[in-house]
Amino acid sequence: MYDLEQAITDRHSTRLFLRDKPVPTELVTESLELGVRAPSNSNVQPWHVVFASGPARDRLAKALLAQADTASPIVPPLPESFAHQRRELGALLYGTMGVPRDDKEARRIAVLRNWEFFGAPLTGIVCMHRDLDHVDALGVGMFLQTFLLALTARGLGSCVQVSVAGYPDVLREQLDISDDYRILCGVAIGYEDPDFAANSLNVPRNPLDHNFVFKTD
Ligand SMILES: Cc1cc2nc3c(=O)[nH]c(=O)nc-3n(C[C@H](O)[C@H](O)[C@H](O)COP(=O)(O)O)c2cc1C
Repeated sequence: MYDLEQAITDRHSTRLFLRDKPVPTELVTESLELGVRAPSNSNVQPWHVVFASGPARDRLAKALLAQADTASPIVPPLPESFAHQRRELGALLYGTMGVPRDDKEARRIAVLRNWEFFGAPLTGIVCMHRDLDHVDALGVGMFLQTFLLALTARGLGSCVQVSVAGYPDVLREQLDISDDYRILCGVAIGYEDPDFAANSLNVPRNPLDHNFVFKTD
């Protein structure tokens, strides 16, 4: 069995997949079986994921890219006080990809790759029932991380993508997702391209005292 610590440290966001190497269904099913062991408020199991592969995935990517060409995605804005972290990530990521900071067109093309799921042959659209609240979104997050760790342990790469959720109308139309569900994010799944340097990034984290407070008296 794969070591838990190993899976946690090995998981990272994959941003170029082997497009032609399919994801075995049984590995996804096994990972889902582990993912749903996640805790949730009153055991409501708030996760609802619509997966697309094959022609359904290709049609979706085409429709998303067409939309991304003409309209900005609707994604929750990042407050200015946190924006520096996005800038730092962008510098690291695009630097590794060889995209110059001030080359707007090269950046646009790199960002557009979000809507073809970075070449992943499988995408999941992560939803939650509209009647559920933010506490249940915690449950979806717990499912998602557990699912990703199980995929990692099976040699599969992944990338959570809020960008994909930025065109909800396209997702609803292409995948028949009803208004009963809120669309939270996408998750790209596949075997990663080992030759793509940005797949080997170890994105740094804040020192613990930045995010955690211990009170003793
Ligand atoms: C809710 C959520 C949304 C994300 N959306 C995107 C996205 O749209 N595009 C992208 O390239 N990465 C996205 N990511 C990946 C983050 O950038 C990544 O998790 C973070 O930089 C830490 O890097 P790591 O996953 O490699 O450890 C998202 C991650 C989460 C959890």
